[in-house]
Amino acid sequence: MAIERTFSIIKPDATRRNLTGKINTIFEENGLRIIAQKRIWMSEQQAKTFYGVHAERPFFKDLVSFMTSGPVVVQVLEGENAVAKNRELMGATNPANAAEGTIRKLFAESIEANSAHGSDSLENAATEIAYFFAGLELLA
Ligand code: PPS
Repeated sequence: MAIERTFSIIKPDATRRNLTGKINTIFEENGLRIIAQKRIWMSEQQAKTFYGVHAERPFFKDLVSFMTSGPVVVQVLEGENAVAKNRELMGATNPANAAEGTIRKLFAESIEANSAHGSDSLENAATEIAYFFAGLELLA
């Protein structure tokens, strides 16, 4: 199996409830290593650019507003099949549809305040990692 890197965000609803450690434990107990991590407060422009692919979707404004409503923890996770593994651990976008034991089932408050973001492909993971981290910050 391939060792991959993926990009993750612990969202404002989760940082507000002090859930970073609990979410990180789920990653670590399931074979993902946190090789870079920092707490930031995204600007409106940074969030708009990051979510640019969703600019035409009806929830775009709400998504940007939510993601800039408080601090987030941006992370790089490394492990076997990290992209798919992280998506599996997060669960479905809407917590009502998320499987038992997933991060969103355990912690999400709504489809908007859904606690975690994870890259949906290896290609997007590379783009998203490069958006938030310099190469020197990534220690394997
Ligand atoms: S995904 O993961 O890209 O397949 O999910 P998708 O449904 O396409 O949603 C893309 C991101 O938009 C967020 N989202 C919403 N935010 C606010 N309100 C509503 N209704 C809503 N629906 C979806 C969703 O959480 C995804 O954010 P990220 O950060 O990528 O997980």
